[in-house]
Amino acid sequence: MRNFSFLNPTKLIFGKNTISELANEVPQNAKVLLTYGGGSIKKNGVYESAKKALGSRVVFEFGGIEPNPRYETCVKSLEIIKKEGIDFLLSLGGGSVLDGTKFIALAAKYNGADSWDFMCGKAKTPNEALPLASVLTLPATGSESNANFVISRDSTQEKFGGWSPLIYPKFSILDPETTFTLPTKQTANGIVDTFVHTMEQYLTYPEYAPLQDRWAESILTTLIEQGPIIIEQPNNYDVRATLMWTATMALNGLISRGVPEDWATHGIGHELTAFYGIDHGQSLAVVMPGLWRNQFEKKKAKLAQYGHRVWGLLSHKKGQEGHDEIAVLAIEKTEEFFESLGVPTKLSGYGVNATEAAEKISKRFESRGLTSEKGLGENACIGPKEIKEILESR
Ligand code: NZQ
Ligand code: ZN
Repeated sequence: MRNFSFLNPTKLIFGKNTISELANEVPQNAKVLLTYGGGSIKKNGVYESAKKALGSRVVFEFGGIEPNPRYETCVKSLEIIKKEGIDFLLSLGGGSVLDGTKFIALAAKYNGADSWDFMCGKAKTPNEALPLASVLTLPATGSESNANFVISRDSTQEKFGGWSPLIYPKFSILDPETTFTLPTKQTANGIVDTFVHTMEQYLTYPEYAPLQDRWAESILTTLIEQGPIIIEQPNNYDVRATLMWTATMALNGLISRGVPEDWATHGIGHELTAFYGIDHGQSLAVVMPGLWRNQFEKKKAKLAQYGHRVWGLLSHKKGQEGHDEIAVLAIEKTEEFFESLGVPTKLSGYGVNATEAAEKISKRFESRGLTSEKGLGENACIGPKEIKEILESR
């Protein structure tokens, strides 16, 4: 097991009617900016409950943060933050609103001319941020208890991730009842995203970390078991609660401690979103199975472990041949699972031409200096050539 440090400072408040806890958690004298998206919180009661709990605090609002939050939109909030002296950000919504809020928290303290500079690597991430917290309404990203954020820039069709320990939410409220109103597509996207987060921290190569492996496998098994139930019973509280907790646990930093990580599926998937507007979860469902086949030799030991332990797959063949058979079947099982949730695993399912996407996206990675020797993934060997092959196969 590798050396590591672990600190997750976000307080989680979980369960029914917990939005009322805002009354105790948000500093009494805070000047609050409520951030939200396209209006789902106004339809499902989250907005009303939050406003009620905030009571007499001074509250301003900034709505319209879109899925795959845009830099162009988020920077518009800086004016009101400055003018009104906002000193606390409260995100109401899914991962996009929260990621946008994290970006705003840093941008508000950035001294340079253009806050995009710290997204694209031209400048350092600011060493100060406004405090923020969240009421999460979509289990998927883990953003509610991590320090990541992903921002898109419309004008250049780019999507970049950032990280700063300053933007862990001070607290996150997770009320599973807020997720009852999720469209089936978003519920399914969230399950796939959670699944792939787990895989990015598990499906690499064997490392002596039996506990981390079993944590990951328990998350995967839970998703495979609970996912189909929620598609059939969207108002099942216990299943909603399970999925919400599962998504948090998949990307709060715990399961990756001491083990190698991949993240190539996310890297490539972000480009599918940036160029073609494919939802984040959908992009991952397309890329990951192709990436596994492309990297089969390097990943087959872990694929076989996954197939055996998570899917219960067995082979009549002996030795390595048997392991390989299970590894191949495990990829097929994963594709079937995503498809069963209504998430297509091929680019044609989104009306995107695979050859064109492969060309465009591999060129972009090439222009950023990626190579097969200094590339993506746990072995840093996924360069433009491999990315092209992966996408062509989808
Ligand atoms: O905008 P509103 O009206 O709120 O509607 C949203 C949006 O249209 C809707 N929605 C959210 N909660 C709802 C609801 N509709 C009804 N009832 C509810 N309870 O769902 C739509 C999608 O929301 P979004 O926030 O975009 O989804 P998600 O949480 O999946 O976030 C995706 C973003 O997170 C990034 C992705 O790249 C993408 O930009 N990620 C962030 C990560 C992180 N911070 O750690 C890691 C992830 O890998 C991911 O990259
Ligand atoms: Zn993700």
